[in-house]
Amino acid sequence: MTDRKRPIIVAVDGPAGSGKSTICSEVSAKIGWSYVNTGALYRGVGLLARDRGIDLEDESAVGAMLEKLAGDIRWDYNHHQLYCGGENLTLRLGTAEAGNAASFIAKQQKVRQLLLPVQRNLAINAPKGAMVDGRDIGTVVFPDANLKVFMTANLEERARRRLKQLDAKALAHGNDAADARDSLSAVMDDISRRDNQDSKRGEAPLRKADDAVEFDTSGYSQSEAVDALIALIRSHGLL
Ligand code: DC
Repeated sequence: MTDRKRPIIVAVDGPAGSGKSTICSEVSAKIGWSYVNTGALYRGVGLLARDRGIDLEDESAVGAMLEKLAGDIRWDYNHHQLYCGGENLTLRLGTAEAGNAASFIAKQQKVRQLLLPVQRNLAINAPKGAMVDGRDIGTVVFPDANLKVFMTANLEERARRRLKQLDAKALAHGNDAADARDSLSAVMDDISRRDNQDSKRGEAPLRKADDAVEFDTSGYSQSEAVDALIALIRSHGLL
């Protein structure tokens, strides 16, 4: 059922490397909706805490910093840029530093509580529909989303995609691509450690909402996954 007071919201949750951000950003561009990448918010907050020399395990210090900054977080729906405390953090969001910092602060109740209205407002203010991706969008942020999708892919495929991104980044910086065979198992270990952290934590753990549609992207090319997600949204009468 479509709630007239707010735009249509499609919640997309799933583990790291399942393709959420790539697929959601392309789907939203194709159908003229806004894309809200909530992982970028956690990454941005983690980076800001690190930049300020805050101990990432110190929940009250991270919370105090975010309390001051939460009103100053801006996400550009069209260009997918994140501004926090007057800084454009976008170029640093994909770094391992940001991912690690995010995984620490995402466990903290205070951080989750302060980011909840930020995420809701971003999606609710979208001019048309919003694709919102993360770990707890269908369970906590928008339990009444118009459609909930749980996006997965098998571990090896997720690691291969991650490795491809890392290699592209290394080559862009003039470094050699990583040795794929050696690093695949390292990336698989890293992803499975993150999966564990995300699904076992006490605060808003990653889990499939009971009413979410499972969407396994293993074996799909990017454009096939984009088309399949658009077809799913359409089949729910949202387009
Ligand atoms: O999706 P990502 O890798 O950009 O997410 C970064 C971190 O933030 C990851 O540890 C999971 C966490 N996260 C979360 O806990 N809840 C969200 N809604 C989005 C991300």
